[in-house]
Amino acid sequence: MNVIGIESSCDETSVAVISNGKVLSNLVASQDIHKIYGGVVPELSSRAHLQMILPLVKKAIQESNIQKDEIDIVSATAGPGLIGALLVGLTFAKGFAYSLNRPFIPVNHIEGHIFSGFLMEEKPQFPFLCLVVSGGHTLLLYVESDLKIKKLGSTIDDAAGEAFDKVSKLIGLGYPGGPLIQKYAEKGYETEIKFPIARLKSKYDFSFSGVKTSVLRFVQKEYGDTKIPENDLANIAYAFQNSVVDALSEKVELALNNYSVKSLTLVGGVAANKLLREKLYQLSNKYKISFIAPAIEYCGDNAAMIAYRGQKLYEAGLKFDLNYNVYPSLNK
Ligand code: KG4
Ligand code: ZN
Repeated sequence: MNVIGIESSCDETSVAVISNGKVLSNLVASQDIHKIYGGVVPELSSRAHLQMILPLVKKAIQESNIQKDEIDIVSATAGPGLIGALLVGLTFAKGFAYSLNRPFIPVNHIEGHIFSGFLMEEKPQFPFLCLVVSGGHTLLLYVESDLKIKKLGSTIDDAAGEAFDKVSKLIGLGYPGGPLIQKYAEKGYETEIKFPIARLKSKYDFSFSGVKTSVLRFVQKEYGDTKIPENDLANIAYAFQNSVVDALSEKVELALNNYSVKSLTLVGGVAANKLLREKLYQLSNKYKISFIAPAIEYCGDNAAMIAYRGQKLYEAGLKFDLNYNVYPSLNK
């Protein structure tokens, strides 16, 4: 079975072709235009998707070495995300499915991430515990089957990736923050600089706005309007990254104590973080379960995960008509 997937929920236009679950092509065009604004500008994002979608679809099909009429399913992200951005990919997919006379399958972006571990050689085993950490979401889930997902907890304020991006901006490193903070943290050391982990009443929820504020206070107190020295930047990045990673691993361990699972998966853009991968890998060893984190190209937004999820929904017998619309928020 050949599936084409289209992803356009935020600032990456991506098109992929998978065949029987194997990725034949997965092209991602990142929109650099947002860098100068320090965050994604929705209107600019929609325009960039419009420019990229057709050339990417053509190239992804060409690279996959299958013919257009060999495509069995057309799937695309329907939400959550930026409404204008989503509309570009979803509308294109509907038209393409119609012209090929093939089923159109809308996919939830977060579900795309949740099952992205299945793109790897070693697959997660049900039931598994899944930590979704991206720029827009932080979720801890108990996944029983393809269609049975139980939410254990989520962030009550900022998402983990959002915290990386905001802290990076406020210490002057730039956007996107995750990779930059990680790079600086690698040069940093354990010092007396510590940022607190939020303690919440609800067992599996997260909060990252406090740690961001405490970095802000520290930087204002220590440096005022002066430039932060490089060494200090590295130590701040080190302390901040430790704090976020500890907060995430602590809740994962709590869930592992209370839920019997066969695998632990780490997905979403922040899953690219080396320290987080290492910490969760150690936890999986402690609990004698398998650990699956996608390869870096499947951590961030990509269409291969959308195509894979589209195929699963189709195999589960779900049918959608061309009136299906985009939805900007998570609850749908
Ligand atoms: O999943 P994703 O590509 O987009 C959303 O759906 O949000 O995630 C992007 C997020 C950004 O916040 C980025 O800073 C973060 O993932 N990120 C990282 C790393 N690489 C990307 N965060 C921490 N460490 C990294 N190495
Ligand atoms: Zn994402």
